[in-house]
Amino acid sequence: MSLRRSKLRRRGMMIGISAIGLALAIFLVSVLQISLTVNEALAQSSVRPPDNAVTNAPMAPGEIRVPDAVAPSGDAPVAPLDILGPNSDATLWGEIRQGSTFTVSIPDRKAATLVQSEGVAWERMRAQNGPLRTYGGMAIFAMLALLFVFYLFRGRIAIEEGRSGILIERFKPVERFGHWLLAVSFILLALSGLNLLYGRDLLIPIFGKEAFATITMAGKWIHNNVAWAFMLALVLVFVMWVVHNLPSMTDIRWIMKGGGLFTEGVHPPSKKFNAGQKLIFWSVILLGASVSLSGVSLLFPYELPLFAKTFEILNSLGVEAVWGAPLATELTPLEEMQYAQIWHTIVALAMIVIVIAHIYIGSLGMEGAFDAMGSGMVDYNWAEEHHGLWVEKMEQESAGADPAATPAE
Ligand code: HEM
Repeated sequence: MSLRRSKLRRRGMMIGISAIGLALAIFLVSVLQISLTVNEALAQSSVRPPDNAVTNAPMAPGEIRVPDAVAPSGDAPVAPLDILGPNSDATLWGEIRQGSTFTVSIPDRKAATLVQSEGVAWERMRAQNGPLRTYGGMAIFAMLALLFVFYLFRGRIAIEEGRSGILIERFKPVERFGHWLLAVSFILLALSGLNLLYGRDLLIPIFGKEAFATITMAGKWIHNNVAWAFMLALVLVFVMWVVHNLPSMTDIRWIMKGGGLFTEGVHPPSKKFNAGQKLIFWSVILLGASVSLSGVSLLFPYELPLFAKTFEILNSLGVEAVWGAPLATELTPLEEMQYAQIWHTIVALAMIVIVIAHIYIGSLGMEGAFDAMGSGMVDYNWAEEHHGLWVEKMEQESAGADPAATPAE
């Protein structure tokens, strides 16, 4: 296998330059978008409500405000309510509080629900001390702590034979482009998403409210737009690497030996990707697809309800036996959005935790690993220790293509 080092290095530089160019373009468009948004917000702040706008201002003593005509949903005739200002009908308000839906004559049917009771549960779920933020934060810290302990005990996994100086191509430019598009977009999405969940508590004390507002507006724009790059990269990576990530018997042997991660001198044979990497690949693909779908549902509110149908399918698969009750399949548009928001956050947090481990092992945790995605060329000894079967295959292929070629050089 010929090395073609300088040519590949040039190609590596081109990939790096195009990735930086893409990042710069995203940044410049973000700045433009933010300045337009700020101008729009300033313009709106001087808009006054029309004179005939309905007001919630307190009434003068004895004054009665006539409410709009509403009627219970269904076929019941529409009739004015018997509400006389403060002499309100307790039963009616009780029903409203419990989330009863009435009819409205305006196009927005969601307005027929005055109080959405399920919203209280949703609000609690993502409140400051709610489970989403608490367990999400704990999971991220647990992974960081685990990696720290792993580093203390195992140190940086070295190339045991030392570097041979012989390089072998591991990833083609298009593969590295797909990877870095996925990585950069994911990191931007993760940071801007974490800011929505924790930023108020963590950043306001450091930067103040105004700077936090600017950061969050920028983050929101980045989150809504960079998501498309992430989805594109996800498809690219899936198409390029799916064949190398199908399970095989070598994975069982690799797992039985803990991948050699915990013991020096142990190198279970592996093909292009080992079982640990396959786990990362499928987590990224499946969780990435789910976070994308729920994200699109949030991006176009009420246009893409996902959960009633999903719950129906889960019910038909017998999830009741595990859950204890069938999942609700009659969801209001608001409930659909709430489920999408909670699910999007849970899946994103799970991905963040997994990707932190991946970033560690692909950079600090293992000598020689970063080169695979940096220049695309890895040291022969690294490749033999971590992907022995893949090296054998590459050597056979190159010997078949060019019988005079030196193996893996
Ligand atoms: C800046 C952080 C990152 C670094 C340093 C990094 C590094 C690497 C390296 C070195 C490889 C190749 C390993 C090999 O040769 O076998 C790789 C593969 C891969 N990366 Fe990353 N990566 C980063 C971020 C990400 C992110 C954010 C994602 C996904 C959201 C991701 C997804 C993948 C996948 C799916 C693979 C193939 C499977 C695997 O090797 O685990 N990477 N990465």
